[in-house]
Amino acid sequence: MKLSLLTTSLLLTGSLYASGAHHVSATQEGINAIKLLGKTLKSNLKAKLQEDSNGTAAITFCTSEAQNITAQINEKLPSNVKVRRTSLNLRNLANKPDATDMRIMKKYQDAIKKHSASATLMTTVKEGETTRVYKPLVVGGVCLKCHGENIAPNIASAIQAAYPEDNATGLKDGDFRGVIVAEVTKN
Ligand code: HEC
Repeated sequence: MKLSLLTTSLLLTGSLYASGAHHVSATQEGINAIKLLGKTLKSNLKAKLQEDSNGTAAITFCTSEAQNITAQINEKLPSNVKVRRTSLNLRNLANKPDATDMRIMKKYQDAIKKHSASATLMTTVKEGETTRVYKPLVVGGVCLKCHGENIAPNIASAIQAAYPEDNATGLKDGDFRGVIVAEVTKN
């Protein structure tokens, strides 16, 4: 009798745990999606830069594949999770920010200018049933090739051809570049 009660309670605990494991918080789900998109784009970019040091392969990759990769990742994610990138210095109009994006990005831009600790932290915003998670992106060495002040002519002309209204060059090491944002809706 005692033994069977114990077994039952253990089984119960076990199943609660198992179902609990599927209940990842909205914030954590957002972080996972951000990491997946960030890692995938970065590793592909790195591979293309290694393939061809003058950057033609890399710029071709960014103009033709970044959006496809984003779409593929969104297809793989649960249907209540979406991930994308946006910026205050927009290159691709497909990445246009909305009002909430603008508000959060302006905070990041200020924090980065003031060298404040919050400059690199993720931000969570709740809007009704949706939780947004923002990860700031800062310009670093490799980004300068296509977002910096001295861009090689082959890259500059590819950018000009694909994005005549480009506003994402002239940035310096350590400048705020934009965000990866995940939106997780309660399901
Ligand atoms: C080989 C050139 C290249 C390099 C290197 C590069 N980018 Fe970009 N980036 C692009 C192009 C082209 C786009 C527009 C296409 C797209 O991604 O939608 C873009 C778009 C973006 C966007 C989306 C917002 C927008 O303006 O459209 C962000 C954010 C971004 N880049 C951040 C970075 C960061 C951070 C780095 C360094 C880790 C970096 N990029 C390195 C070419 C590059």
